[in-house]
Amino acid sequence: MTYHLFHADCLEWLAKCPPNSLHACITDPPYGLIEYHPDHLAKRRNGHGGVWRIPPSFDGSNRQPLPRFTVLTENELKKLSDFFGEWATQLIRVLVPGAHVFIASNPLVSHWVWSSLTNKGFEKRGEIIRLVRTFRGGDRPKGAEKEFADVSAMPRSAFEPWGLFRKPFEGTLAENLRSWKTGGLRRPVSETPFTDVIPSGRTPQDEKNIAPHPSLKPQKFLRQLAWAALPLGEGEIVDPFAGSGSTLAAAESLGYDSFGIELDREYFELANVAVPRLAKISTHITFLELSETEIEIA
Ligand SMILES: C[S@@+](CC[C@H](N)C(=O)[O-])C[C@H]1O[C@@H](n2cnc3c(N)ncnc32)[C@H](O)[C@@H]1O
Repeated sequence: MTYHLFHADCLEWLAKCPPNSLHACITDPPYGLIEYHPDHLAKRRNGHGGVWRIPPSFDGSNRQPLPRFTVLTENELKKLSDFFGEWATQLIRVLVPGAHVFIASNPLVSHWVWSSLTNKGFEKRGEIIRLVRTFRGGDRPKGAEKEFADVSAMPRSAFEPWGLFRKPFEGTLAENLRSWKTGGLRRPVSETPFTDVIPSGRTPQDEKNIAPHPSLKPQKFLRQLAWAALPLGEGEIVDPFAGSGSTLAAAESLGYDSFGIELDREYFELANVAVPRLAKISTHITFLELSETEIEIA
């Protein structure tokens, strides 16, 4: 077994980790922090209230509850920023120089999270755009849908931003690759660099059946990140907000070692069952597909 799951608070777990010991972080944290708080999770599990909103049905089908980041108060945004500042302080210590961090977010709150990471010493290296129609936004003004039939309150979201950060290192990239095995991104195929827009569908139903977590990310997408995260294909990946373990499954499918930390007992138990099953899923990843797409665009 090359993955290790821990039922713990990631801040406490990271604080106990030796410095300069992990080679990449790929994670999908609670974007607004409060949506995975036990109070809000209990409300979601009971089917009402809290930050989780049941969206109106669309084309006759009912949609899953979505967290509403527009309701975050100034105080909650400040807490979000402080939490990610503390998280970044712990994470930067345990990562080796040149290690990359891929962190999922949402366009409404990403600037709070990005600045918390750069304030604690990470360099921002870009953003990865996961092209996915989330069904978030796009609704007509509530209570006046007919009166303002041609108006949307906000854009219908069609992408998910993933911040890309790196722990600074001294010397050249080539020297860092030799000493720490990090600093760059692994190419999908030798002729094509890793590219920051990744076409991605919504998570397939067979994966959701294995891992019914509200924020499950698709294997096909995560495997592309995991591949890129270890430039020489060596090292260990950490996911401090592991949920149902989809990052660990992606790492496992590529033969990489990984660590996942999950606070919620129900999700931790789910991850123990789901990781080996998700890892076996065949996603038909075709790295060649990426180079073909690029040729098409050019
Ligand atoms: C957005 S979900 C990640 C889901 C994951 N991408 C998947 O595919 O299953 C964030 C997870 O972080 C967990 N979490 C929240 N705070 C945490 C903390 N302090 N330490 C560890 N896990 C935490 C939540 O319980 C939740 O399962």
